[in-house]
Amino acid sequence: MTVVINMRDGVDERGIKIAARFILEGKLVAFPTETVYGLGADALNARAVRRIFEAKGRPADNPLIVHIADFSDLGRLARDVPREARLLAERFWPGPLTMVLPRNENVPDVTTGGLDTVAVRMPAHPIALALIRASTPVAAPSANISGKPSPTLAEHVIDDFYGRIECIIDGGETKIGVESTVIDLSSERPTLLRPGGLPLEEIEKVIGGVEIHPAVRGKLVDVARSPGMKYKHYSPNARVIVVEGKRENVRRKITELVHEYRADGLTVGVMATEEYDADEFFHLGSTEEEVARNLFRALRELDKRGVDVIIAEGIEEKGLGFAVMNRLRKAAGYRIVWA
Ligand code: TXA
Ligand code: MG
Repeated sequence: MTVVINMRDGVDERGIKIAARFILEGKLVAFPTETVYGLGADALNARAVRRIFEAKGRPADNPLIVHIADFSDLGRLARDVPREARLLAERFWPGPLTMVLPRNENVPDVTTGGLDTVAVRMPAHPIALALIRASTPVAAPSANISGKPSPTLAEHVIDDFYGRIECIIDGGETKIGVESTVIDLSSERPTLLRPGGLPLEEIEKVIGGVEIHPAVRGKLVDVARSPGMKYKHYSPNARVIVVEGKRENVRRKITELVHEYRADGLTVGVMATEEYDADEFFHLGSTEEEVARNLFRALRELDKRGVDVIIAEGIEEKGLGFAVMNRLRKAAGYRIVWA
């Protein structure tokens, strides 16, 4: 049975108590963060964490992020906190930043996928923080079946997990809509492993130049450091195609593609920042923040409406646009049309 707790109007202490008890009993609780919903379990309970992998269908070598609510928890998880990590934590936590650090012995192997590092983040969401404070550090991947778009609404979690986990906290729509930025601070040079809700430009203002792991750009090399990068991601059932290039050209190309696919008898959905004539249309908004917030929802909704093909308009790769384009290209399996 799944208990759904409504907290759309804010933190409810009784609900938090119920959810925290589930976590402490080794059960699974989905909860909102400012990025996407997480599927949580006690990070230090190996058996509980194993259940996350089973529920998601997630490969065991793809490690989880451990969520904390207080800086003092960091010492329980990380063996060493380098200077850059301290600076970034002071500046951006709580917030959409995950740091990979040398791991402490007491973090179970299942949580870290057997690596000697641990990924840690302090989420900026009152429900997430209350849940962690009332229980323990919580390991949580995004609360979607492995390979599906991440959930930005409790309905998405219900679609994927109702009846299969003990508890879902409904906190309404998540604010940022793409997952946290992941940066590796366990080796000599700070390295970006995943662009996300905290723009890289902001990080570089604090610690200077950051290397970008080649897999971020879709090159399938040296994936050992972030095993997650080698797996299929964010894919709805429909075939996704991203159109990138100059604005006018993109507009013309998308219109052309819609006609071609429809002529082939396919149902076509478009997700874009301006209106298009297609079988189904999802308006992503106009700012990069709006596009980030709507991205995963658009993929899930167009899929539900039963389209065969989703044509997505690319946006500029700056600020949150870096994360948006990273997720879109993956969702498209790198089917990119240059206009
Ligand atoms: O915003 C987010 O980060 C959300 C919310 C729930 O906090 N969580 C999330 O978790 O997106 P997940 O599991 O979907 O993505 C975690 C990413 C994966 O790409 C994983 O490979 C990487 O972080 N990761 C985790 N631990 C790592 C480690 N020790 N070394 C390298 N990469 C790691
Ligand atoms: Mg995920």
